[in-house]
Amino acid sequence: MDLDSILFTQGFGSRRQCRALIAEGRVSIGGAVCREPTASFSTDALSFEVDGQQWHFRERAYLMLNKPAGYECSREPQHHLSVFALLPGQLAARGVQCVGRLDEDTTGLLLLSDDGKFIHAYTSPKRKVPKTYLATTRHPLDDTQLVALRDGVLLHGEKQLIAAAAVHPRGERLVELTVNEGKYHQVKRMIAAAGNRCEALHRERIGMLALPSTLAPGAWRWLDEADLDALGVR
Ligand code: URA
Repeated sequence: MDLDSILFTQGFGSRRQCRALIAEGRVSIGGAVCREPTASFSTDALSFEVDGQQWHFRERAYLMLNKPAGYECSREPQHHLSVFALLPGQLAARGVQCVGRLDEDTTGLLLLSDDGKFIHAYTSPKRKVPKTYLATTRHPLDDTQLVALRDGVLLHGEKQLIAAAAVHPRGERLVELTVNEGKYHQVKRMIAAAGNRCEALHRERIGMLALPSTLAPGAWRWLDEADLDALGVR
């Protein structure tokens, strides 16, 4: 693939901007500056540097973010910062999107990708991907509430009861809940419908993929092969 196309597909700007980056000597491959936009390289295991920062060519981008509170899962946030402010600009430029949304005050595992099929598969209600949350409640959780969450609660606007796929109390006001759907404010609404109130919500896991304890709030990383296997991408 030509060098300008490589930069373009990886989100380094318009074709013109990519050609300018190359002409300005800001792009190196294999340690050598390349000023030729039409120089061709195999994209297999290709890495390159732009302004001294190393990038690996990725046909598709799959990443995880440990979302902090106070960020909206939108490119055009209404009241807070966007989660895209936590990522390098190249990722938004190449069309990376959130794989489902977390509320502004929800923290934890957020996946992002520019692979439309992957985004669809992981957000489609048909696929029923389990998502596990740790919820802190305002009041102590009692057995009636835990049973209601397990057996199903009726949410406003829904015709059928919605039950958590798993409910594990983790403390007096702490419960781990797994849900297979991705309805608007689902966990908060379920806890409210069970007679309590969700004060804090943290997503710990999507499918078999857990948020690594080493990923600090606000930090992101590419998904590795093991992560993609856990998600069933390959
Ligand atoms: N359920 C909610 O209520 N909020 C989220 O952010 C995610 C799931």
